[in-house]
Amino acid sequence: MTSSAMVAEFDDVAGWTADAVTRLGERYAIPAACRGSANPAALAWLAEACELSAGARLLDVGAGAGGPAAWAARRFGVRPVLLEPMPAACRAAARLFGLPVIQGSGERIPLRAESVDAAWCLGVLCTVRDKATLLREIHRVLTPGSPLGLLVVVARRPRVFPVPDGNLFPTQWELVELLADAGFELVEQVDRPDGAPLSWSRRAEQVAAVVATEHRDDRGFALAARQSESFTRLFASGQVSMQLIHAVKRPARQAPVQATCGGEMNKPTGDNDFEIELEVEVEAELRMSESSRPEEAAGRPVSEWLFDPADAEREDVGLRNLLGAVEELEADRRLRRRSAGEDT
Ligand SMILES: C[S@@+](CC[C@H](N)C(=O)[O-])C[C@H]1O[C@@H](n2cnc3c(N)ncnc32)[C@H](O)[C@@H]1O
Repeated sequence: MTSSAMVAEFDDVAGWTADAVTRLGERYAIPAACRGSANPAALAWLAEACELSAGARLLDVGAGAGGPAAWAARRFGVRPVLLEPMPAACRAAARLFGLPVIQGSGERIPLRAESVDAAWCLGVLCTVRDKATLLREIHRVLTPGSPLGLLVVVARRPRVFPVPDGNLFPTQWELVELLADAGFELVEQVDRPDGAPLSWSRRAEQVAAVVATEHRDDRGFALAARQSESFTRLFASGQVSMQLIHAVKRPARQAPVQATCGGEMNKPTGDNDFEIELEVEVEAELRMSESSRPEEAAGRPVSEWLFDPADAEREDVGLRNLLGAVEELEADRRLRRRSAGEDT
């Protein structure tokens, strides 16, 4: 169910943003309409990873006010189709960029199977309860072997606080499983690059200032501001991180070929795929868990804790044990293969 905070954040603010852009000028449109916290560096990474090319049909699921799709059309010449459930956001995207927009939800994409060449889904997964259905739908409409670009807020532990209304952040582990179950190969994952140039962020801020001046007394404005404060606290406390992902629709019956996570490359081969994939996942979880620095939280007064550092340390120990077990399994398999005279 859509909460009133989500309607405020995704619908009211999208409409107000379009009004403010109309007043300030067209060059404000793209920075102001990128509402999934994508900056030009993140968009460029996704576009290059997905090898977007002129004329390719790009479906943007949960397109919001259309900033990322419009950026991809201008910079890479793709032909975007936008899918977005919120009516004012759909109107904003059509009005600001003149792009084709379908009002609908990602769990039921009203497009033919294998009808798009690439898909983006930026800042959407964490707002969707049935992530598996949404990913399966994207998989259905992509042609085999086609790329999916994701921007996902990933939780570093199963419970985070405070939770912005309507948000359900997947953990790294859940995300990897969801993608695999939906039929995607995770090709590469990186932390979202920080920082937009001033020329970009100033335009976004000016639009936000006009929206604030005109709507600060609206209930919707207060709700959206509260959502944004919750996000700021979650990021500041290291409980969540923003990830960019390049995945591809696995062609039928093809085994997983490669996965790189946080810059490391692993090449699963044959029947030890499972251990290697598990190792990649556990290592990624561990890196995230370590970067939240529970020892620093433990040094602060209890009233300032956003998570229990003892929980975090227990989780860390559990992950290390699991990693050790996976490594042992792998070593054991290698040994057995060697004694059976097989190549490793
Ligand atoms: C954080 S905004 C990101 C908007 C846009 N992708 C961007 O990066 O600017 C999340 C968007 O997901 C949309 N959304 C929420 N639930 C959805 C669903 N079930 N299917 C498709 N989109 C959804 C929201 O309406 C909202 O526009």
